[in-house]
Amino acid sequence: MSVFRPGLFKGKVALVTGGATGIGRAITEELLSLGCKVMIASRKEDRLREAQKEMDPKGDVLLTKVCNIRKEDQVKNLISSTIKELGRIDYLVNNGGGQFPSPVSNMSLKGWNAVIETNLTGTFLMCRETYEQWMSDHGGVIVNIIADMFRGFPMMAHTGAARSAVDNLTKSLAVEWAQNGVRINSVAPGSSIYSPTAARNYNEDNIFERARAGIPTKRLGTTQEIASAVCFLLSPGAAFISGETLKVDGGGSLYSPLMWQISEHKNLPAYQWTYKSPDEEQENDSPTKAK
Ligand code: ADE
Repeated sequence: MSVFRPGLFKGKVALVTGGATGIGRAITEELLSLGCKVMIASRKEDRLREAQKEMDPKGDVLLTKVCNIRKEDQVKNLISSTIKELGRIDYLVNNGGGQFPSPVSNMSLKGWNAVIETNLTGTFLMCRETYEQWMSDHGGVIVNIIADMFRGFPMMAHTGAARSAVDNLTKSLAVEWAQNGVRINSVAPGSSIYSPTAARNYNEDNIFERARAGIPTKRLGTTQEIASAVCFLLSPGAAFISGETLKVDGGGSLYSPLMWQISEHKNLPAYQWTYKSPDEEQENDSPTKAK
């Protein structure tokens, strides 16, 4: 079970981009398990269908919509559909993004623009439209998922530049929209968060083992450990936090094994739990089934 109180987000609605896989999927599962209704958006319909089947086959609490966040008309439509179908948008989680590894010298303008448009312009469009159509009148909370690019991001310079810009956009919006009751923060996962989607993206077998060795925790992070940080920032427990960026990296961005050796250890274990769809939870709670 999530560490947060059951029903914490009951009556609330969240919109999560890239919510079908990886970190977005873990965020969606934790929100659902805490009573939130969730709309997930992705460019890929098959991913959405699979996620729906696995997280909420009855379609009671999870809705899906195909959307390319680079396209203004599709973003406008995603926001208006969410309001129409779920009645409100309390939380926006901008998790959808993408990049490909390459040295800058090999990057085409087309490749550069694509990464900037997805990670920066897409986040801008999602924030602006959610604000225009809902949060300017009703308030709300936004969390932007960025990346560990604080010391530069070699081989990923395009996404490093875009995520750094989102970090700054987060601060500007925290000031501009405070009077409308909007809080906005970023979460920066370390490159040490394992998910099969990330593994496919990096296209290199031992990148996670190299990351693991260079983190004080001496283990990789889980997607659920990003989700719990996001749920905290969305929750009233973070009511006085806005314009902040929370690194979730096991201390990896602080540390270089060249300066200080840390022995292998298992003393900082992962936070993990098993998601059950609302139907499965009810079945388990039913007294007849328990006999
Ligand atoms: N995830 C990655 N790229 C995306 C895009 N352009 N739109 C929505 N989700 C995405």
